[in-house]
Amino acid sequence: MSQAEAETQDPRIDALHRRMAEHSLGGHWQPRRRNPSPKLVPHLWPWSIVYECLMESGEVIKLGRIDEPAKRRTVNLVNPAITDFKSTSRTLQMSVQLVKPGEMAECHRHTAAALRFVVEGEGAGYTNVEGERMIMEPGDLVLTPHWTWHDHKNPGEKNLVWLDVLDVHLINHLDANIHENYSDSEISDNYFDGAAQTVVHEDGYCRRRFGVLRPASAHVDSRFLPYTYKWRDTLAALEAMAAAGESDPYDGILLDYTNPLTGGPTMPTIGCRAQLLAPGESTKAHRHMSSTIYHVVEGAGVTNVGSEKSGGADLAWGTRDCFFVPSQAWHSFTNISKSERAILFSVSDRPVLESLGLYREEQA
Ligand SMILES: [Fe+2]
Repeated sequence: MSQAEAETQDPRIDALHRRMAEHSLGGHWQPRRRNPSPKLVPHLWPWSIVYECLMESGEVIKLGRIDEPAKRRTVNLVNPAITDFKSTSRTLQMSVQLVKPGEMAECHRHTAAALRFVVEGEGAGYTNVEGERMIMEPGDLVLTPHWTWHDHKNPGEKNLVWLDVLDVHLINHLDANIHENYSDSEISDNYFDGAAQTVVHEDGYCRRRFGVLRPASAHVDSRFLPYTYKWRDTLAALEAMAAAGESDPYDGILLDYTNPLTGGPTMPTIGCRAQLLAPGESTKAHRHMSSTIYHVVEGAGVTNVGSEKSGGADLAWGTRDCFFVPSQAWHSFTNISKSERAILFSVSDRPVLESLGLYREEQA
């Protein structure tokens, strides 16, 4: 007998419970067998381990065709509280992907939105999004929004490694996950074997066509814009803010990646930020109603995560490590170096909470 069906010593109540159970009904007053939504925990994934596993996967896992399980060679970051779901958070998935020289990850599209943040590469590899090559240099952020065709190719001589972030868990919760392989679509019939899109736009097309300076005639009604944010621009903006002393007490120098068409978040379901902590800087603690996954671009520090009373847990990070701060958890940052800056890239589900009117923030 399940806990939900446990006897109460009252025959009428027990009879009611049995009758409801027979008809797939339950009383709100009955205990649940288990918590279906375990509390997510803060966690840090050291880059040394992630990278070692990724490189080994490059030796033992052959990149597959689009209809095979190994169609993407990615190592998933898994929150220890929900290992059964192989998810980083309840909404977002961060993984690390390897495309070796000469390899191609074949073309598909899905309702889940995705982005790539490049960690390692020589600038030869690219993601083809809707017919445009998005060249991938370290630190670049490439968007493959909801339902856009995308394939990845590395024609260079060195490995191409990037962070994949998808809103796939949110999309699954909403029962809205649809997937299509390019090779099965009608538009691929004209091309060699449907593995990759033909390049139909010049490099930089979307930035020129839909960026902050754009042709007056450009058609600008899409919220789902394939786009690349070059690291050189992000870094220049961070450095300019640092020089101007434009610092936030809770996050240091904090930059939002915005959608050039809407002025809003990067994509409707995923927000991206970059932040810079000056040498020796310690921020104040705050907490907010959104889950955040961080990647350390450079530097070393500590993020304290947890309740104010308990003192929380210290996540000690170095360059390229990734870590997770759960929704509603107090957190603060310290750059432990007295001479070097630290830069973090982060993704969060904040745009979803904001659009639902649920986002709130509290400062210590
Ligand atoms: Fe994909």
